[in-house]
Amino acid sequence: MNEHDSQKMEAMLVKDGYVRAATAGEADLVVLNTCSIREKSYHKAVSQIGRIPKDREGRKAIVAVTGCVVSHAGESILKKFPHVDMVLGPDHIAALAELAKKAEAGQERFVRMDFSDLSDYEFPSQILTGQKQVKGYVTIMKGCDNACSFCIVPFTRGAEVSRSASEIVDEVNRLADEGVREVMLLGQNVNSYGKGLRDGMSFSKLLRRIDEETSIARLRFTSPHPKDLSPALVEEYVRSRKLCPHIHLPVQSGSSRVLKKMRRSYTRDVYLKKVESLRRAVPDVAITTDIIVGFPGEAEEDFEKTQSLVREVGYDASYSFAYSPRPGTEAAGFPDDIPPGVKQERLTRLQDLQAELSLAKNRSRIGRVEEVLAEGPSLEGLGQLTGRTPHGRIVNFDGGPESVGAILKIEITCASAYSLKGEAFGPIH
Ligand code: 5AD
Ligand code: SF4
Repeated sequence: MNEHDSQKMEAMLVKDGYVRAATAGEADLVVLNTCSIREKSYHKAVSQIGRIPKDREGRKAIVAVTGCVVSHAGESILKKFPHVDMVLGPDHIAALAELAKKAEAGQERFVRMDFSDLSDYEFPSQILTGQKQVKGYVTIMKGCDNACSFCIVPFTRGAEVSRSASEIVDEVNRLADEGVREVMLLGQNVNSYGKGLRDGMSFSKLLRRIDEETSIARLRFTSPHPKDLSPALVEEYVRSRKLCPHIHLPVQSGSSRVLKKMRRSYTRDVYLKKVESLRRAVPDVAITTDIIVGFPGEAEEDFEKTQSLVREVGYDASYSFAYSPRPGTEAAGFPDDIPPGVKQERLTRLQDLQAELSLAKNRSRIGRVEEVLAEGPSLEGLGQLTGRTPHGRIVNFDGGPESVGAILKIEITCASAYSLKGEAFGPIH
């Protein structure tokens, strides 16, 4: 979400005549887009603010700090850092270029961090910068109405607001017309999409409209909440020709006791039943997840339940994080009683287990032919491209720039825990 916000800000500034500077030291305008999901990201953002060059050849650059950190620490950033001119919450990024001009004209330093509701919120759409892009993001909703006890998002991004389906369909089509092949629908809680809209739209209906009314080749979304994984959404996985057979379904913990304290509103069994119903419909669906270790009161026994759930689901990948208390959240009031060493040790055990599972999954693809969307040059070396299978697995293969944007048939020859290698047969479409 933040990455996409950065893209949107950059595109807006480019449209306004700005050009990208090589370094922050050369820039007339420096924008630092921040994240505060975990304590580490917050500290990183604050230390980066301190490192922004304060003047440019004797002339002061305009400094804007945007994003989630701002939503709960806006005024204090302005106080602490005299070189910051403006602080903009996530709902004010559309006004960045205009506000930068005001700051340049010598207006007072200011903070804007309130949230817009449906009546006055306009979802800024992606403006392409003229470079060929294979993948695009489309925001379908913003904010979150849940109250997971560890999570700062409802405070930093506000309440849920859904964007109109027609606007979303138009944007997907616009991106497809510009050459984008794959779209990722974005929202904090995508599958509760439609709440508050008066036309009875739901997330599954939106997916159907995109499937029927757009020419995009591939469709993905992130992130859904397990409680909203409805039978209608499972059915879309079966019906849709565009929706990729992958779901990122954050579980957070495998212990029902911990899930309750997290206020996730599902138990381990309910989560497993949802996974089972999706697997029954789409047997080889790839499932990835987010996990928090060391939540207050997490006993060794709870952690073992998380490990056993990871094995039982057989995740393709998981992203795991050590719990950190976030200001204003319910869990910030619980004693953060798991020592850092124990959190780290659980994290390592979980990540080792996941690497083992991912490697086995990836090895099972060797010898198969996969449809890979070529995304661009690979970090593996010159003459190599990288892309993804419909299941979201990364594949590196020999290829030149002419193949970027094509969906290729690739025979998988080699596998590691994190990626595959293969040989291209030629484009299929
Ligand atoms: N501590 C650790 N991890 C967190 N996440 C969210 N809040 C916290 C926190 N306070 C993780 C969750 C979420 C992911 C984006 O970040 O796993 O799904
Ligand atoms: Fe945070 Fe996701 Fe829970 Fe919303 S559903 S409060 S974004 S973890």
